[in-house]
Amino acid sequence: MKLFPALEKRYTREPLTAREAQRQAQFIAFGPIVFEVSRLMVKFGILDLLRDRDAGMTLEELARETGLSEYAVRVLLEASLSIGTVLVDPSSERFTLSKTGWFLLTDASTRVNLDFNHDVNYEGMFRLEESLREGRPAGLEHFGPWKTVYEGLSQLPEEVQRSWFGFDHFYSDHSFDEALRVIFSRPTHRLLDVGGNTGRWALRCVAYDPQVEVTIADLPQQLEMMRRQTAAKPGSDRIHGYGCNLLDAATPFPTDGTYDAIWMSQFLDCFGEEEIRSILERAARIMTETTRLYIMETFWDRQKYETATLCLTLTSLYFTAIANGNSKMYHSEAMQRLVESAGLEVETLHDSLGWGHSIMVCRKKQ
Ligand SMILES: C[S@@+](CC[C@H](N)C(=O)[O-])C[C@H]1O[C@@H](n2cnc3c(N)ncnc32)[C@H](O)[C@@H]1O
Repeated sequence: MKLFPALEKRYTREPLTAREAQRQAQFIAFGPIVFEVSRLMVKFGILDLLRDRDAGMTLEELARETGLSEYAVRVLLEASLSIGTVLVDPSSERFTLSKTGWFLLTDASTRVNLDFNHDVNYEGMFRLEESLREGRPAGLEHFGPWKTVYEGLSQLPEEVQRSWFGFDHFYSDHSFDEALRVIFSRPTHRLLDVGGNTGRWALRCVAYDPQVEVTIADLPQQLEMMRRQTAAKPGSDRIHGYGCNLLDAATPFPTDGTYDAIWMSQFLDCFGEEEIRSILERAARIMTETTRLYIMETFWDRQKYETATLCLTLTSLYFTAIANGNSKMYHSEAMQRLVESAGLEVETLHDSLGWGHSIMVCRKKQ
């Protein structure tokens, strides 16, 4: 298994002393409480207040400004000292924001993950054990009777949708600029966006290239959402829809002529390995010598920073308990094996786009 240097250092040698390891074990044991306390320190505005006061604030001042009882502020602050999001000056008893508190409050990716874990994952994660044993997303029942979260996306409660799309868009949006340059460096008149979701990428493509025609292949209910969101936007007349359920192995890719580019962004991680192989085989069937398949994924092994890998390997469990029960964030070698088993080969691999995406450019095996 190949790992980038930051991961190699951390994952192949024990990094902690015995005391640190004991503390880490307790941190895990109290994980749900650490999460809730920290989320509420953000939600109640306590971290925000502390950021704004260089001299710090006393417990009484915080209680007054937040409208919470002194008891409530005290238990949150004392726990946050141990969690490491606040510091205290013992002589003045004034609390200040720590570095971790600052990141929790201001780091965009952390905030997106916090909301995603609270609104989408938290309650369903209680059924992770069942999901792992049965290979189905038992935690999804908390939201509805669907087999996968994608079938129910358009019906999820509003705040859950906001956090789901916030999470999804946050990662892909940050890579679109570089991705456009990668794709349009080759002549691209027709592009198939598989799992095009709300049409954000398609809108970027038609804005970037005044000639390109984009077809979005997605579940029919998702296409309705896409049409609502792209309606009347410049270039939307060049965005077309192909409603399909690609989990059905008998469903072909569109056969209405040749595509120069097939784009799959954060799409294949929605499927198990056998399903991916089947999808890639069907993609290969409509590819010519000049078609390129672009797979944009956050591969956990190709991250420059270990913190990014931590986010990805933990996000895998969202797929287990909530999304579909059998998919994950993949290692790039696993994806490459699947690409090759579908009669394709990897031509180039672009790394470190946006918040840690890679683009695997694939062509038909020569
Ligand atoms: C994680 S989203 C990725 C969205 C977008 N490509 C991006 O990068 O932000 C996955 C997309 O795949 C679609 N999808 C999931 N299962 C599908 C299936 N069985 N057939 C067709 N599309 C599917 C979902 O509806 C959703 O739009």
